Amino acid sequence: MEIENVGVNMVREDLENLPDYPIPPGFSARWFRPGDEALWQRIVGLAEKLITPFPADVFQKEFAPRADALPQRQCFLCDARGEGIATATAWFDDNHRGKPYGRIHWVAVIPEMQGRGLSKPLMSIVCKRLRELGHERAYLATSTARIPALNLYLRFGFAPEIASNEDLAAWRKVDGLLKTPLDLPIAFQGGPVQTKRSGLAASPALGIPGDEPTPSNGQGRL
Ligand SMILES: CC(C)(COP(=O)(O)OP(=O)(O)OC[C@H]1O[C@@H](n2cnc3c(N)ncnc32)[C@H](O)[C@@H]1OP(=O)(O)O)[C@@H](O)C(=O)NCCC(=O)NCCS
Repeated sequence: MEIENVGVNMVREDLENLPDYPIPPGFSARWFRPGDEALWQRIVGLAEKLITPFPADVFQKEFAPRADALPQRQCFLCDARGEGIATATAWFDDNHRGKPYGRIHWVAVIPEMQGRGLSKPLMSIVCKRLRELGHERAYLATSTARIPALNLYLRFGFAPEIASNEDLAAWRKVDGLLKTPLDLPIAFQGGPVQTKRSGLAASPALGIPGDEPTPSNGQGRL
């Protein structure tokens, strides 16, 4: 069945009790280094099936204006040979509906590594990083045909942000296809609301060895 692909947001109004998935044996995680621009484009371009062809300048447009923040915020998961196979970014938006939010940005796992649970340690790392950098809440932009991504974000306690009748209609269409029921409101109530959080699961601790963030360097307002 073809699922209509509608852009939607998901929010997590706090960054407490984040699921802590460990990096599996044979994999490692590291933060952005100069020169990783092409690696990011390659991973996201291979993973991305809904934006084709994947434009060559996405990294440049999304991240270059704040390239100084990348070493603290853009994470790569690497295989046993040290090759990057997945990425996610603990990004930020100083004005999401009038408030500063952390932003989970461009989560992607290359196709041959998908479905093995690898996005979960990556999400644990970047969600934890947002909190370490002083963010109190986070959102992300996604779309309704991205069922694995929606399941992942629900698992991490992100909930649909319903800011319009169109949002509600879009979530209604995808509710029932997801692993977690959405508990949507009966009607749009005239302002952004989040559905109740679900899917959270406890798991063991993790970390990237030798890595401590310095909150004052990540972005201007911290
Ligand atoms: C979304 C994406 C990052 C998930 O990565 P992954 O490593 O394959 O996902 P995981 O194996 O860690 O699974 C994460 C969750 O999604 C679920 N999932 C994975 N593949 C799925 C599929 N084909 N259908 C439905 N659910 C799926 C898993 O069951 C898991 O949920 P659970 O913990 O409740 O069981 C990956 O599919 C991807 O790169 N997609 C293309 C790019 C994209 O859409 N990114 C998101 C942009 S907003």
